[in-house]
Amino acid sequence: MEFPKRVKEVPPYLYAEMDNVIAEIKRQGKEIINIAHGDPDLTPPVEVIEELKRSAGMKDAHLYPTYWGMIELRERIAHWMEGRFGVKLDPEKEIIILIGAKEGITHLFLALAESGDYGLIPDPAYPTYKASAIFADAVPIELPLLPENDFLPDLGSIDSGVLKRTKVLIINYPNNPTTKVADRRFFQELVEFCRQHRIYIIHDHAYSEIYGGDPPPSILEIEGAREIAVELHTFSKTFNMQGYRIGWACGGKDLIRALAIIKTNTDSGVFVPIQRAALKAFEVYEGFIPSLRERYQKRREIIQGYLRDLGWNYYPSDATIYVWTRMGVGNDSMRFVTELIRKYGVMIGPGAGYGKYGEGFLRFSLTQPEAKIREGMEKFIAFTREWM
Ligand SMILES: Cc1ncc(COP(=O)(O)O)c(C=O)c1O
Repeated sequence: MEFPKRVKEVPPYLYAEMDNVIAEIKRQGKEIINIAHGDPDLTPPVEVIEELKRSAGMKDAHLYPTYWGMIELRERIAHWMEGRFGVKLDPEKEIIILIGAKEGITHLFLALAESGDYGLIPDPAYPTYKASAIFADAVPIELPLLPENDFLPDLGSIDSGVLKRTKVLIINYPNNPTTKVADRRFFQELVEFCRQHRIYIIHDHAYSEIYGGDPPPSILEIEGAREIAVELHTFSKTFNMQGYRIGWACGGKDLIRALAIIKTNTDSGVFVPIQRAALKAFEVYEGFIPSLRERYQKRREIIQGYLRDLGWNYYPSDATIYVWTRMGVGNDSMRFVTELIRKYGVMIGPGAGYGKYGEGFLRFSLTQPEAKIREGMEKFIAFTREWM
């Protein structure tokens, strides 16, 4: 018996090739230093943890949540979106709670694309985008993010035949893995372009709060965006609540309603105590986020310092929880990283794991304490010198 195309065609899990090597190293009792994954080591605010505990003990905590999410939480999100981006949203119709941004990505493709429609997927990118297009029986078409275009898509280069068949385009700025931040002008051009070609936009804003310079904008700030764009937000990186599984989608009411139709028939919302914990997170946002940014900035500078010593050309950004660099030694990122794990037990992200245009690059993650990062980087440097 054959499994369906949607199972067979999904690209292999990013670290699948390395998993055997990692398992072998662990069997030998050796430690792995993981500066590859975007899984924050820092904890959520204590108030959030306390709220989760308290709410879990409430009499009705176990009941099914409402499909769209608690209205108090959606109202709080509307208030935050207005303060942070100047975007006014109707909490009843233009915001829906998600089980993390990842869930939103998958369900939005189902909500917006017809079987056989084209979906424009950045390359390199978070691997879920392509898989989600495949699950919806859409055709993933790569949208290269190249260093010569400063990791923005070149909209003018998209074939007109492709555009005619394209229904959905997904983007993500601040970007994983390239760390590029897009400005309002880019979003303006993108919205105009997609309105002209009748293409829905999904903007994955997972790293909206992890930046050093000017605050990254929301696509919903752009006039006319709401009719065609949905923006995804998450508590995962802003509050280190990645295991809680909670985020939200916001945008025009018709798009959010389409997403709600898929969601109400596939999931049953987010556990209420987690929604209450998320509500609490907004209360402590102002006090929590500056120190989080500072911690990441210190870690970023450590990694960048080592790369500078090597003379490597990393992308100068102070956003996201990654450092993206061109390899200064050959182009085979998968082989380089696999050997680095085998010899030194240090794990970093191979650019090729994010798409073919990621080849020749590496992604370092800032999700380990400074001392661990230093230890990992020392080993990485020793290995690189051997590799040269
Ligand atoms: C670009 C991007 N989008 C979404 C996610 C997942 O977010 P969530 O934990 O809210 O599902 C990640 C996680 O690393 C990511 O890098």
